[in-house]
Amino acid sequence: MTPGIDRNRLATLASAENAAFAARTPKSTAMRARAGAVLPNAVPMQWMTALYRTPAIYVAGGEGANFTDIDGNAYCDFNVCDLSMTMGYGPAPIVEAVSKQVAMGAHYLLATEAAVEVAESLAARCGLPFWQFTTTASAANIEVMRVARTLTGRQKIVVFGGHYHGHIDETLAYEANGETLPGQLGLTPGATDHTVIVPFNDLPALDAALRGRDVALVLTEPALTNSLLVLPDPGYLAEVRRLTAAYGTYLCIDEAHTFQFAYGGLARDWGLECDFIVLGKGFGTGISFALYGMSAPIGARYAELLDGESGPKGLATGGTTYASALAVVAAKAALDQVLTPDGYARLKANGATLADGIDAIITRRGLPWRAFRLGPRTGYCLRPDLPRNGREASLSIDKDLIAARRVYMANRGVWEAIWSAGTQVSFAHSRADLDRYLDLAEAFLGEVQA
Ligand SMILES: Cc1ncc(COP(=O)(O)O)c(C=O)c1O
Repeated sequence: MTPGIDRNRLATLASAENAAFAARTPKSTAMRARAGAVLPNAVPMQWMTALYRTPAIYVAGGEGANFTDIDGNAYCDFNVCDLSMTMGYGPAPIVEAVSKQVAMGAHYLLATEAAVEVAESLAARCGLPFWQFTTTASAANIEVMRVARTLTGRQKIVVFGGHYHGHIDETLAYEANGETLPGQLGLTPGATDHTVIVPFNDLPALDAALRGRDVALVLTEPALTNSLLVLPDPGYLAEVRRLTAAYGTYLCIDEAHTFQFAYGGLARDWGLECDFIVLGKGFGTGISFALYGMSAPIGARYAELLDGESGPKGLATGGTTYASALAVVAAKAALDQVLTPDGYARLKANGATLADGIDAIITRRGLPWRAFRLGPRTGYCLRPDLPRNGREASLSIDKDLIAARRVYMANRGVWEAIWSAGTQVSFAHSRADLDRYLDLAEAFLGEVQA
């Protein structure tokens, strides 16, 4: 149970705020009734209702750090589509590049010069020389697994407890009493049989998992960002690299989120060596786009395993809408004009300001908590000590508290992060946006503190 919170006050506040939310969203309520006839749960993708306890709302548009619903309520967004919109709504360089490209054709199933430029730019930023493009980070991770399995001749994949790498059969799994179990319905039977789940920041456990030399790939975020936030111990990731190299296992750093935390991603920022890097989500600026980078030897083998119309069957990679000219120009404009060293410096400073503000509130209120902080990511660690693995992080996932804070803030014009994430600063937020968030965060705690 979260220390410092009065559960009765929390429940009373949540129920009043839910009623207020319903009262200010009548057009969304009517739209839900209409949509329910054609869309299961009234949404075109179930997360649009499953991620929120508030009933689904429908969006009219957005600009910068804000979006507006069809009832005319504006929200300053600290969820940023779970990091798929970290550049804000309608950033001018992207709008211009995309508008020009769509008028000339969004996709040709052939490469453009911009694709070469994006790969060149990423090779320079991230340090891996070869790149392939997909539409989602899930798809990029699936292809990385296939490449790793093909090149090593091994089947097993290691991920860490508290992980999320997309809706991939093998990794939608959790660990219980040393056993890997399927995490959701509808997965291929046996799909998780070759998945090994190890606690983060536990080198002996990783060593034990790799020692049999039958693991193709270790797939990890540099810091776990889907169980609030779990930071690596100092030196931990360098040891992960040493162990994977020693046992002939490939290492993939999934930077689908963290590419937006530091210029070139955290792998570059922290000087990590790896065999693959996955990017996606916010990098696509809302247009489906993701990529993976590969080392020189992997890229060379990859090129030899082409799945062409003649010769032996090659690697199962690709898709008809992957690497569209449209997504590529959006990515190029983002790299050249938004994801700049200055842009990241501002983002990092704003992230620190928000985390400092949350820490100051916690101190003023005498709560035994602390702020999470990593670049633009912050949020509430509901314990005095930061978590070192997914299990410890789960102690700060108080879903009733998060849901009450979300609806309280939504009713006052702020869209707070979903339960698995933390409050996220985007490239579009201003200092005034941060102040507004902090004022509301403190007022909310005043309502529910014991
Ligand atoms: C670290 C990480 N990898 C991969 C994915 C999958 O991304 P997508 O939903 O674009 O497939 C996610 C999604 O949240 C993620 O957080």
